[in-house]
Amino acid sequence: MDTPRIRQPGAADADFVVVANRLPVHLDSQGPDGPRWRRSPGGLVSALEPILRARRGAWAGWAGTAAGGTPAGLPDEDVRLHAVPLDETEYREYYEGFSNTTLWPLFHDVVVPPDFDRGWWQSYQRVNQRFARHAAALAAPGATVWVQDYQLMLVPEMLRALRPDVRIGFFLHIPFPPPELFLQLPWRSQIVDGLLGADLIGFQLPGGAQNFLHLVRRLRRAESVGHAARSAVLGTVRVGDREVRVGAFPISVDAAGLEELAGGRTVRERARQIRRQLGEHRRIMLGVDRLDYTKGIDQRLRAFEGLLADGRAAARDTVLVQIATPSRERVEHYRLQRARIEARVGHINGAFGQVGQVPVHYLHTTVDRTELAALYRAADVMLVTPLRDGMNLVAKEFVAARPDLGGALVLSEFAGAAQELTRALLVNPHHLHELQDVMATALTLDPADGRRRMEELRRHLRERDVHHWARSFLTALGGAGHGSLLPDTGDPATRANVA
Ligand code: ADP
Ligand code: F6P
Repeated sequence: MDTPRIRQPGAADADFVVVANRLPVHLDSQGPDGPRWRRSPGGLVSALEPILRARRGAWAGWAGTAAGGTPAGLPDEDVRLHAVPLDETEYREYYEGFSNTTLWPLFHDVVVPPDFDRGWWQSYQRVNQRFARHAAALAAPGATVWVQDYQLMLVPEMLRALRPDVRIGFFLHIPFPPPELFLQLPWRSQIVDGLLGADLIGFQLPGGAQNFLHLVRRLRRAESVGHAARSAVLGTVRVGDREVRVGAFPISVDAAGLEELAGGRTVRERARQIRRQLGEHRRIMLGVDRLDYTKGIDQRLRAFEGLLADGRAAARDTVLVQIATPSRERVEHYRLQRARIEARVGHINGAFGQVGQVPVHYLHTTVDRTELAALYRAADVMLVTPLRDGMNLVAKEFVAARPDLGGALVLSEFAGAAQELTRALLVNPHHLHELQDVMATALTLDPADGRRRMEELRRHLRERDVHHWARSFLTALGGAGHGSLLPDTGDPATRANVA
């Protein structure tokens, strides 16, 4: 994004507002030619950006600078971007602290122990209030406001208090834990009340929605919870005279867009070049993740090391490329995880490599969409092995990027995507030997079997792309008798669905 136009804070005139912790871009640096913006990391941005572009909606979020104010030169193209400021203390307490040291591990099966800190909680409340105020100031009368993810779980209730006229949806991108884990949270009732300010609460999987409904039954009166069997809506909760719907809406990717990109000449040539650079005859295993301890990068490296040690793979015939996006770098468990991964990469290359031929290529960086698509196309085996993941869009992107029907997908049972992508090679990443076996199977998969699997995976993805996800959520949010909330994409298929 390099053609910035400055958007002045406007009137409350947006019919469709997304509120997320991050904007789709963040401030990378302030150069002599002005600010440099980069795409923000993570699946939330990848999924919502095409939706907001089609809808020409407004997006309120943090611009990635702790300077406190609204940065000048915020890019403003199809999507109207609106910056919500955070200062350095709030970044530390609300973002690194409560969001990513309390909620993130708690919601991911306590993979590492969460810290509970009252100061962080107070900061989370203050920042959520600010996001609610900004959303209230942007939304036109009767607008739809779609609040995203665990960083903003108090916003629905706060926004309702400020703007009872707007329709509020909330979507959680990460897993919702079983009640026995969630109940560890000292501020559990406030979080549940915050979410219940929405008209519709969406989870990735039916299991997450059921966990939430069980929790509400325990924390509130059981009779306030009702069953529902309306498409994706699995239950309802009565809050005063309002009915809150609760459902499962598995998020997805812009499958057609990715397929087009991956089928283009630039990507195909770059994929061939990558193969040549890594060694024409070598099989390429690929990992692409934010550097997060939930992603199972360390487990995957250990499994690869095992294959090299027992001779099922050798540096001369197999290479593992691991691209790791820098993420939450000052949070202790992230620092430890990075140190562990980098030490293991060094150990594997030291033990099994030779000059000009290392078994692991590790890049601690973000790559652009073209390079990512070329890597997906060059790979023989895609390794997606999280210990727990709400969905995992990398798995879906890989499938979308393989119109050639090549490549095998190794997918953790603990990724939400495994419930849909059942023709992947599913694996329990906690079981090291099983992971090694499945990785070895993927390396020697019969090509005809591989193509059949990929064909079925792609068929599923074509039907269940990100536009289907947004349509089903917004349809459920609109409900009967409230008119359509669907974005007008200009796409006849979308219009047909609206009718
Ligand atoms: P999460 O939201 O936890 O980061 P997902 O797998 O759902 O996990 O989404 C990750 C998104 O970030 C995907 O769209 C993926 O393409 C992108 N991504 C991950 N790593 C990189 C990288 N190194 N460079 C560029 N994009 C990346
Ligand atoms: O869905 C997971 C998620 O935490 C998103 O909310 C977030 O945008 C993304 O991963 C990247 O994380 P962060 O914004 O902390 O860099």
